[in-house]
Amino acid sequence: MAIFLDTGKIEDVERFMRMGIIRGVTTNPTILLRSGVVGGREAIRKRSIEIAGMIKPYPLSVEVTTNDPAAMFEQGREFAKWAENINVKIPIHGPAGEMENFEVVHRLETEFDVRVNMTAMMSAQQCLLGALAGATYVSIFGGRVNNMGFNCVEEIRKARKVIDDQGLPAKIIIGSTREVLNVIEWLEAGAHIVTVVPDILKGMIVHPYSKETVQMFLDDAKKADLETR
Ligand code: E4P
Repeated sequence: MAIFLDTGKIEDVERFMRMGIIRGVTTNPTILLRSGVVGGREAIRKRSIEIAGMIKPYPLSVEVTTNDPAAMFEQGREFAKWAENINVKIPIHGPAGEMENFEVVHRLETEFDVRVNMTAMMSAQQCLLGALAGATYVSIFGGRVNNMGFNCVEEIRKARKVIDDQGLPAKIIIGSTREVLNVIEWLEAGAHIVTVVPDILKGMIVHPYSKETVQMFLDDAKKADLETR
């Protein structure tokens, strides 16, 4: 079980790496845009190399920025050369249901030794097929599944069961965290990894009653003059 950080911001990666609690980083074009990464492939390259260097040997997922299969394939091969720990994120299919993405994933993994994170999944059946195609990671967007009125916990349980039953090596990442309680709930349901935005991670750590308790210790240390001894 592991927690990845869902961010493109250097300061977030630095902070949570120093704390020793993350085992990888995930990005996508929306996250990069929000993290101030603008300016084409060179901007993605620079930020990706920087983050990959900071978290090495843990993995960084970098998503393709095209829906054209040939261009996706070319980007996948290039991104993977930027650093050893970069894996390439490829959506399960295109916005109109184009399925060529599977061929790209299969070729990158089996012919070019590129690690792929197959993303934007909403169901166990998509996970199974991504894992069969050879993806190293299969990513379900838990919060989005829940927002559609389904319980993603059921999809996570089913995905983990079929992947284990088939002896497939793919790791299940659950992203799209919306609430603090998602993290433990999804790991408990069978996710190998939950990828978490920085605010959710902070929410997991800081508890009002812990604050109050620590304040009591500090106040009593002061009263007993124990502060500096
Ligand atoms: C993870 O890898 C995804 O890119 C991410 O968690 C998506 O989250 P969203 O639903 O908040 O866009």
